[in-house]
Amino acid sequence: MQICSHLVPSLKLIINSFLTVQIFLFFVDDIVIVMKYIYLSEYASFNKSRVIIKNILYICQYKFNTIMQELIKEITLDTIKSRHSVRRYTEEPLSEEHNNILKEIVDKCNASGNFNMQLITDEPNAFGKSFFARYGKFYNVRNYICLIGPKAKETEERLGYYGEIVVLKAQQLGINSCWCGLSYSKSNAIFKINDGEKLYALIALGYGENQGVQHKSKSPDKISSDIASSPEWYLEGIEAALLGPSAVNQQKFHFRYINDNRVAVSTDWGFYNKTDIGIAKLHFEIGSQKEISWI
Ligand SMILES: Cc1cc2nc3c(=O)[nH]c(=O)nc-3n(C[C@H](O)[C@H](O)[C@H](O)COP(=O)(O)O)c2cc1C
Repeated sequence: MQICSHLVPSLKLIINSFLTVQIFLFFVDDIVIVMKYIYLSEYASFNKSRVIIKNILYICQYKFNTIMQELIKEITLDTIKSRHSVRRYTEEPLSEEHNNILKEIVDKCNASGNFNMQLITDEPNAFGKSFFARYGKFYNVRNYICLIGPKAKETEERLGYYGEIVVLKAQQLGINSCWCGLSYSKSNAIFKINDGEKLYALIALGYGENQGVQHKSKSPDKISSDIASSPEWYLEGIEAALLGPSAVNQQKFHFRYINDNRVAVSTDWGFYNKTDIGIAKLHFEIGSQKEISWI
């Protein structure tokens, strides 16, 4: 009995800690949004508070990776097959429900990838007042996502990966899209940028006048030399990667099967080639249905 009475406080402590962790994980999205706001604002002017916040954000990261994995798991090969770039949109504004879902996805991507992507709706000028957009046959683009992230070498590829998650989730909702590196007017687009960040590209969104057309594609052996000796899932990954969007449809990426779930990826030089790699990696993961260890 005496041993039991000694154990009770320890057990209580364990249960309380467990509950605290559960509550923390449940509210982690909101906690991180507030933390990030404080981190970027004047309130975090002391270095010490910035360090503490950075550490909390770091702890939260593993939870976000799980959230992202869950989001990605919902995307099917059928979604990948049905997505094509759409440049002409109807007048119909994004429904409130779609707007909210997209915002939620963008928030999750921002929290997980440390980006500052922004969903802009009912704004016609970024594409309407751009010579390149008209030349590029864009019509009636009133919604877009500004892909903003830290000025860093790896951001372009990471934004490719995360931006394509938004594209494919939008496709599942019946919202069409087109990645856009050039065909928009930066001076007429609406977005808010912080020090140390950069606008990398836009993604046009809306209900399309059409569903787009399947792009011409390289054959699998043009982007991977070891197809014949690789496992089935690897070929499925390659096929899904080739269905993805790429700047001027260049498909300048190369894959190589290493062993187990290890795959190497590289690119030839090209306009937005790193963004293309990020997109291709996501497609490969969805197509192969494997957790890939990238080299
Ligand atoms: C990073 C990136 C930038 C792009 N920039 C433009 C652009 O400025 N203008 C445009 O009309 N299309 C642009 N596209 C769309 C590509 O032309 C399109 O993805 C490609 O032709 C393949 O067609 P699909 O998306 O229908 O599969 C871009 C695509 C990517 C991935």
